[in-house]
Amino acid sequence: MKKTTQQNQTRSKFYVTTPIYYINDVPHIGHAYSTIAADTLARFYRDKLGKDNVLFVTGTDENSQKSVDAAKKAEKSIQTYTDETAQKWQGIFDNLGITYDRFIRTTDTDHIATVQDILQKVYDNGDIYKGVYEGLYCVGHEAFMKEDDLVDGLCPDHKKAPEHIKEENWFFKLSKYQDRLKHYILDNPDFIQPQSRRNEVLSFIETKGLEDFSISRETQEWGIRLPFDDSQVAYVWFDALLNYVTAAGYGTDNFDKWWPADLHIVGKDIIKFHCIYWPAMLWSAGLDLPRQVFAHGFFTINGEKISKSLGNAIDPTELVQKYGNDALRYYLLREITFGSDGDFSLQRFNDVYNSDLANNLGNLTSRLSTMLIKYNNAKYNEVKVKPRYEYEDDITSLKFHTCLSELFSWLDSLNGAIEENKPWELFKTDPEKTVTVLSAIACELLLITKYLEPFLPESSKKVQAIFHNGVITQNSEVLFPKFD
Ligand code: MSP
Repeated sequence: MKKTTQQNQTRSKFYVTTPIYYINDVPHIGHAYSTIAADTLARFYRDKLGKDNVLFVTGTDENSQKSVDAAKKAEKSIQTYTDETAQKWQGIFDNLGITYDRFIRTTDTDHIATVQDILQKVYDNGDIYKGVYEGLYCVGHEAFMKEDDLVDGLCPDHKKAPEHIKEENWFFKLSKYQDRLKHYILDNPDFIQPQSRRNEVLSFIETKGLEDFSISRETQEWGIRLPFDDSQVAYVWFDALLNYVTAAGYGTDNFDKWWPADLHIVGKDIIKFHCIYWPAMLWSAGLDLPRQVFAHGFFTINGEKISKSLGNAIDPTELVQKYGNDALRYYLLREITFGSDGDFSLQRFNDVYNSDLANNLGNLTSRLSTMLIKYNNAKYNEVKVKPRYEYEDDITSLKFHTCLSELFSWLDSLNGAIEENKPWELFKTDPEKTVTVLSAIACELLLITKYLEPFLPESSKKVQAIFHNGVITQNSEVLFPKFD
């Protein structure tokens, strides 16, 4: 914990990324999860380090077999399909209030240039050679698979038999980096977090070992051409991972400012790519490794895996139309411990919304402002408040759940202080004390909303607009209307 604090004190910039998403899927709350977590950190660091010192990148992964298949199914040209769907994804993130600095698409020109430049470097470095790939390929994962990865001949995640392919491909010498990677992970305990994922990666290296992998496809038309063999396109993961480098301004003067990335937020499903392939690729290209890869857990919906076939994916846009963006952010970051698996249920969402947002934060704001209007002509004294909880260590180590639970119990205690002091009675005997008590609570509430800003940006701003510079602005809007 100490180490994290020290790291943060010396941090002068913060570059955070999310996975870039496959566009054939509709964006669901699982995708919103990684993006909201990254957005929360970006907002926190912008406040701490200044807007110009934070880079937050999300985007779409388009050069895959999945895109080709989906375009065909939609009877659209691949270009039209990717343009339309990428725009849809970006629009959804905009609606969710995601403050990305760049929405990267793997079809962007600068990204294509990055991929080709790095491929050439890795090739010149002697880490790419020609071979024959014969084996299984799961389009769902966009990954090569082994017989022993299958269950009853099917990919256990996509419930489909992988394709059998035989191609002359270019291979990357991953095996060369096995020892270096193992030692790096052992020497840098924060590189992969949480600890359980770090152990999983170490055990993968120890038990399975690192095998060279194919970094090109011969039979696919759509994708980035290899600079040293234009009959092949880059394997989608080799291409996609490099988005992090492109977005940092690879090949421009900005690159040194942003690279290495401070944090890649990913789901636990893609740690092999981020914690094994990616470090080796970077070393081969002569680039530094990101400071941390944090893999969060997966959540189910009412106990079931989110899946197209079950049709249970929840559209985040619909949810926020009713409850607001802050409610979705609150539920995801408060209910599910970041790094662990969890569950999402609409019933629980509604309950948590009513109890924490409507009854706790919402109610405190409205009764406090009403009382100050009534008992002190819409004014409060600005007093210095001692924080009951300092959240910096928790937010910077991605303990979002702890931050929110501490801040909301602080809010609880403010509601409790109103009950105890009974201002409506106290006012009759001691109006001065009434104002002192209510002012202190108002200033504590304001401090809490300062801490809550990265998590609940819209409602924090609203509370701060109601209590501003010692004056209460009457506001008829209910912060969080209750729903049955
Ligand atoms: N395109 C690759 C990532 C390339 S990054 C260089 C990919 N895309 S994806 O569209 O399948 O997105 C996967 C990510 O979506 C997961 O890693 C996770 O961040 C998020 N999630 C998808 N479903 C989820 C849940 N059910 N629960 C939590 N997160 C989920 O993989």
